[in-house]
Amino acid sequence: MRTAHRTTPPTVTGTGAAGTPHGHGTAPDEAGLRAHFEKVIADDRKIEPRDWMPDAYRRTLVRQIAQHAHSEIVGMQPEANWLTRAPSLARKTILLAKVQDEAGHGLYLYAAAETLGVHRADLLDALHEGRQRYLSFINYPTLTWADTGALAWLTDGAAIVNQVPLCRSSYGPYARAMVRVCKEESFHHRQGFDSLWALTHGTPAQRQMAQEAVDRWWYPALAMFGPPHHASVHSEQSMAWRIKRFTNDELRQRFVDICVPQAELLGLTPPDADLRWNDDRGHYDFTPPDFDELTRVIKGDGPCNRQRLAHRRRAHDEGAWVREAAAAHAAKHRTPHHGPHPAATTAPATADEATADEAAA
Ligand SMILES: [Fe+2]
Ligand SMILES: [Fe+2]
Repeated sequence: MRTAHRTTPPTVTGTGAAGTPHGHGTAPDEAGLRAHFEKVIADDRKIEPRDWMPDAYRRTLVRQIAQHAHSEIVGMQPEANWLTRAPSLARKTILLAKVQDEAGHGLYLYAAAETLGVHRADLLDALHEGRQRYLSFINYPTLTWADTGALAWLTDGAAIVNQVPLCRSSYGPYARAMVRVCKEESFHHRQGFDSLWALTHGTPAQRQMAQEAVDRWWYPALAMFGPPHHASVHSEQSMAWRIKRFTNDELRQRFVDICVPQAELLGLTPPDADLRWNDDRGHYDFTPPDFDELTRVIKGDGPCNRQRLAHRRRAHDEGAWVREAAAAHAAKHRTPHHGPHPAATTAPATADEATADEAAA
């Protein structure tokens, strides 16, 4: 583990638009730093990388942002499978753009994690060794072309519901990364809807292919919001720190409420006989996902876990020459004032922590 250590005590810098509560030249004690941190959170302002933060807050962010970053890059695989088999040049171009966007999301998020003092190489090691996880839906197969549409409409749609509140997350770099990610996820979601629209307005066989794909992806998408709130290990504290704003259950309900009218427009039926509008609640009632299955898939026993991870490791190994060339280029052009990587105080999350909360939010 390449974990560096701070050589100087962390300080309150006031970069979180919070100002410093301490006079110049005085080393603030931990109680003062903690009080300032709590006030920034309570005032709904942002914590920035150079601000003091409790170790547990830093660890939670590293776990969540790393899991999110891993999900973006491993999440390229199910659709990449269809790039060479897209039914038209336009569909191929759209899918290629989407898959490239996901790589970019990974880049923003690894960069955001590095502001917390961890190294991208260590996070990737943790992914490849199974110590950190990625979202469970990625471990399901895309059996037909319609799966690319259903996957994007449902899972990118679920990602938006999860991630829009993260644009207001208390950690500045994460919140800012989310703004751009959400704009691009919106395109992903719409192109998925558009792809399904084409199929549902096509031949009976195409319509059936779209319905079967929705049957496969409905529950993996619902499971993306993680376990119920009462069983979610990290939710309470993450909400207190305003890293996340809503419970897994609230977000799952919001997603169902948004999706059902869209499914009606498409002429597709979610695979849930108990799905119906509840006038009293003002929400749709629905059957929740199988959380035992979710746990099994998170722990590595889904239909494609082994394949996805093996492919990721292979891609990483085969890309070693690119990283070496980039490092050599950077070394050649490094100016003397460029120092080593910022020091860190915290190692990446453990496997146990990573498995506990499925939702990236
Ligand atoms: Fe993404
Ligand atoms: Fe996406």
